[in-house]
Amino acid sequence: MKLFLDSADENHVKFWSGQGILDGVTTNPSVLLRDGVTDPTATFASLARLIAPGVLHAEVTAESGAALVSEALALSELGDNVAIKVPMLTPQGVPCLAEMHELAGAGVQVNTTACLSYGQAALATKAGARYVSIMLGRVDDEGGDGAAVIEEVRRWLDRWGYRTEIIAASLRGPGDVRRAMDAGAHCVTVPPAILSKLADHKYTRHTVQEFLDAADATAAKAA
Ligand code: E4P
Repeated sequence: MKLFLDSADENHVKFWSGQGILDGVTTNPSVLLRDGVTDPTATFASLARLIAPGVLHAEVTAESGAALVSEALALSELGDNVAIKVPMLTPQGVPCLAEMHELAGAGVQVNTTACLSYGQAALATKAGARYVSIMLGRVDDEGGDGAAVIEEVRRWLDRWGYRTEIIAASLRGPGDVRRAMDAGAHCVTVPPAILSKLADHKYTRHTVQEFLDAADATAAKAA
């Protein structure tokens, strides 16, 4: 399973990358805004260099058509390890499948984002997406079960032998990460704050302190 960091903050990326657990980094325009990025292209280039050979996922901002395709092609030139996130639909509900298909045909690693249903993930796969980002938290927000969607899509991909990978996105806590992993997501993308929570446990801290105190006591006896 692949683990991505859902962040554009270079300090967080350096820290978690240094822990040897990251396969890549995902971003979106909201993440860039949250993390104070003012020059997205420069940030994508820098992050891609920083995490290579891990994959940097950069999202287009053009809504559709030729503008979307040319923006995606330009972003993919930033590095061999750059995947391009293309939203499943425009805000008006027009599918971006043709754009994804064209980009996949041009050798671009397409990550279909804002996937909220089984049908969307299946169509994106048919269009040639390398990844489908299923937003577990946002499915849950609408009364659905994001983990169940991931599980069903995984079953469908495996049944037909598709190589498209599910990225479980929109994870709001350690419990969501566990649900996504258990549902069979090929990749999970986790914000830094949630990754810290996954690593931490107050009783682990207590236990380690107990060991250190015992080592000190042994050393004091020997002195
Ligand atoms: C990652 O690729 C997604 O864009 C991100 O996880 C979305 O998270 P959100 O639903 O919390 O905005």
